[in-house]
Amino acid sequence: MPLDDSKLWYRDAIFYEVPIKSFYDSNGDGIGDFAGMTKKLDYLKDLGINGIWLLPFYKSPLKDDGYDISDYYSILPEYGTIEDFKILITEAHARNIRVIADLVLNHVSDQNSWFREALKGKDNPKRDWFVWSDDDAKYSGVRVIFSDTEMSNWAWEPKTKQYYWHRFYSHQPDLNYDNPEVREEIKNVVRFWLDMGLDGFRCDAVPYLFEREGTSCENLPETHEYFKELRKLVDTEFPGTILLAEANQWPTDAKAYFGNEDEFHMAFNFPLMPRIFIALATESAAPIVNIINQTLPIPPTCDWGIFLRNHDELTLEMVTDEERDIMYNEYAKLPKMRLNLGIRRRLAPLVDNDRPTIELLYALLLSLPGTPIFYYGDELGMGDNIYLGDRNGVRTPMQWSFDRNAGFSTADTEQLYSPPITNPNYHYETVNVESELRLPTSLLNWVKKMTRVRSKFSDILGHGDVEFLQHKNRRILAYIRTIDGRNMLCIFNLSRRPTYVELDLSRFKGLRPVEAITDAKFPAIGDLPYFFTMPPRSFFWLSLTENDFKEDD
Ligand code: GLC
Ligand code: CA
Repeated sequence: MPLDDSKLWYRDAIFYEVPIKSFYDSNGDGIGDFAGMTKKLDYLKDLGINGIWLLPFYKSPLKDDGYDISDYYSILPEYGTIEDFKILITEAHARNIRVIADLVLNHVSDQNSWFREALKGKDNPKRDWFVWSDDDAKYSGVRVIFSDTEMSNWAWEPKTKQYYWHRFYSHQPDLNYDNPEVREEIKNVVRFWLDMGLDGFRCDAVPYLFEREGTSCENLPETHEYFKELRKLVDTEFPGTILLAEANQWPTDAKAYFGNEDEFHMAFNFPLMPRIFIALATESAAPIVNIINQTLPIPPTCDWGIFLRNHDELTLEMVTDEERDIMYNEYAKLPKMRLNLGIRRRLAPLVDNDRPTIELLYALLLSLPGTPIFYYGDELGMGDNIYLGDRNGVRTPMQWSFDRNAGFSTADTEQLYSPPITNPNYHYETVNVESELRLPTSLLNWVKKMTRVRSKFSDILGHGDVEFLQHKNRRILAYIRTIDGRNMLCIFNLSRRPTYVELDLSRFKGLRPVEAITDAKFPAIGDLPYFFTMPPRSFFWLSLTENDFKEDD
């Protein structure tokens, strides 16, 4: 199957976020690699995935799992070669799967030759590629993101006796975007990888490129200006490729990264993510309705990337103190479950492995406006390991089978980059691809079914408008997705108890709701309010269809 050439492919896509090292180890050294990923493309195809987001695979000392790049033009040898990378792209394209990769443009590793040069002296030509100061008082008040490990955004460099600026770990010096050479070099990096057939980038940490005194040093006009230049570059030199923004910001600031259709094609909907979990914890639809209303509208060719979990902690920076307390109380009862301002747990353990809740969350992810992004392993209900440091507990080996090392690798278990999950409730002997494929009722088979329904309705769910329905039950979330006069009604019971709702659907009078997964038919809509009873944590997707059925349908 050739690659479809739709310019808006990203709006119809379901993305899968995956670290190369965690997916499949093809040569038995205990670390996943490009060749392994290529072997497993059919799995992703079968899952209904048509976009892959690869976490950083560049040369790196791996002190921040690859977000600390020491050479932007090469691949970490453990992951394979540039040749292996190209094979992955070709094979993915042959299956109509696009591939985007992380682009870390705010900072580099302190092992990067650019920084090592800069350390040689104040007059070194690379010195100005970084942000230096004689004291640590500049830009005071700028928030520290990795608050559990870093005290300040400045780090002292004893040899040349100056401080350098870093928004993340102190081993990740920020690049100085006021320097035109830096701006040009990152464009060359973009060209280098897009030239090899990559379909775009997930741009890491976009709000922080420039620093200006008296500001939060986030979302500055200069930063937007640079992304406009990058967008122009990809549109003219690599049409059809996309830029996806990681901007963990409040709705207005996050939305600004779409520009006037001249910045990012996509941006993660960070404001929505925690509010989905708050809605469940408080059994109330309001947090979701309010935030979606704040994050819309966006320009027509742009789209939110929506997600439930990712490779980081579930970040709680952009919520109120009160909302953060709700989240910690409900989802992070043990201190070890927390990291920085967030929760380092996977999807299934977050909701105590409650199958109806997991299904409800996936049903939201696949029907709210935006492009769904799955985090690898969550489709199996994989567990986590909060006793591994940093965010490593949600980055354990993919569970392929009940064989040694979860079928991920033939290495000795001690040699694996990380132990696989063996907690009895999530043990890889039961939570794995092979076993779940054999069990018709498994979570994996259910998710597969849902991606197929999503793709059947991809015009409505990928491109349609959303309208929230007014009603009297705060536990019920109900919305209509619409395109070209076709409608889907999505209803969710967010609470732990059964409940009921009356919806005024009179403007759809004469149409019949047809349940989208099973084709079960509901009575035709009349003038009276339409009545639903809903089991705990349940949902309906109902396609509103012409009433041409027989009486006993
Ligand atoms: C982004 C990444 C995170 C990384 C950080 C610093 O937030 O998602 O994993 O640690 O950037 O590069
Ligand atoms: Ca390997």
